[in-house]
Amino acid sequence: MNTAVVVGAQGVIGRYIVERLSGLPDWKVVGLSRRRGEDRGNVRHIAVDLLDRPAAAAKLAELREATHIFYAAFQPSAGAASGYAANIDPNRDMLVNAVSAVDAVAPGLQRVVLVTGTKYYGTHLGPYPTPARETDARHAGPNFYFDQIDWLTAFQHGKRWNWTELRPQTLCGFAPGTAMSIVPVIAVYAALRKAQGLPLSFPGTAWNTIYQVTESAHFADAAYWAATEPRCANQAYNITNGDYFRWSRLWPRLAEVFDMPAAGPEPMSLVEAMGGQGALWDALVAKHGLQPLRFDEVVAWPFGDYVFGCNWDVMSSVTKSRQHGFHAVVDSEEMFVRLLRRFRAGKIVP
Ligand SMILES: NC(=O)c1ccc[n+]([C@@H]2O[C@H](COP(=O)([O-])OP(=O)(O)OC[C@H]3O[C@@H](n4cnc5c(N)ncnc54)[C@H](OP(=O)(O)O)[C@@H]3O)[C@@H](O)[C@H]2O)c1
Repeated sequence: MNTAVVVGAQGVIGRYIVERLSGLPDWKVVGLSRRRGEDRGNVRHIAVDLLDRPAAAAKLAELREATHIFYAAFQPSAGAASGYAANIDPNRDMLVNAVSAVDAVAPGLQRVVLVTGTKYYGTHLGPYPTPARETDARHAGPNFYFDQIDWLTAFQHGKRWNWTELRPQTLCGFAPGTAMSIVPVIAVYAALRKAQGLPLSFPGTAWNTIYQVTESAHFADAAYWAATEPRCANQAYNITNGDYFRWSRLWPRLAEVFDMPAAGPEPMSLVEAMGGQGALWDALVAKHGLQPLRFDEVVAWPFGDYVFGCNWDVMSSVTKSRQHGFHAVVDSEEMFVRLLRRFRAGKIVP
């Protein structure tokens, strides 16, 4: 029997890893986050503030059976999403407090899967060498991934367990109430534009550059592979859908999902243009009987500005993960259509 500790189990990544493992007969799952998740089947949750080191050590002391840690906790900073990577102290400390607490009590710990991302390469800062390979140099300047990796790799020396680092790009899933995702940004932006009789213009400058994303369920498959594949010991991998696209080709298909006309680029700050539309959103929720999610729960506009403002190629090589046994791919265009339809069918947007 394996016991997974999923750190950040309520997040856009963590909740999919919980879901993936919950379907396996030989796994038990313990989810950690400050909010308490729902216990069911082989899944239970511990509500813990990982920034409170003594409290974390006390609450995690029961995790003696842990065999795997999946680390996907995260704290953003205020302001532009491109600045999140510099939010070092809490993101380093949560990892240190979680992993050292489990390591202290779990003699059967085998692997720690650390979720980082392509900001490792400086995707958030400007053009960088593409396709990015795992061996590429780090970007200059602060990035909490570097602090997390440096701490974890040093702490692992001489231990019975090993680590695997996964670098996804722009996770896409159906996780209403978890705002930091590009899918609800597109869905709510489309709903607000349509309500005003406006076409679905592209609200940024990344119209013609190459981009990539990672579907959350696909990433959870990769995390499971990374936790159980012997070749993944002490290795880093890029994990994306395995294809690339340009918003200019994708955009008309997204407009079709919302039965509205598509339009070309209309660069704007979504934070400024959409952030103040809470009253219109509340009216749409009432008119269409939508799920009662607050405007700021359903969408994170800074994340939209970040993604749609990447007017340089964003492209990772996934050759290494394929060579080491992870062969799954996702058609990104089909994925966006499928997920956006789900946001409509689930009454998150009209
Ligand atoms: N989302 C993306 O598109 C994306 C893309 C590439 C890389 N990444 C990376 O993936 C990692 C995970 O990000 P995410 O997007 O999944 O984050 P997220 O959706 O914001 O989830 C963060 C999780 O951490 C938990 N958490 C935050 N502070 C905590 C604390 N003090 N104690 C305990 N739990 C805490 C949150 O639950 P509570 O709030 O209930 O505590 C939540 O479960 C990050 O390193 C991020 O940079 C994300």
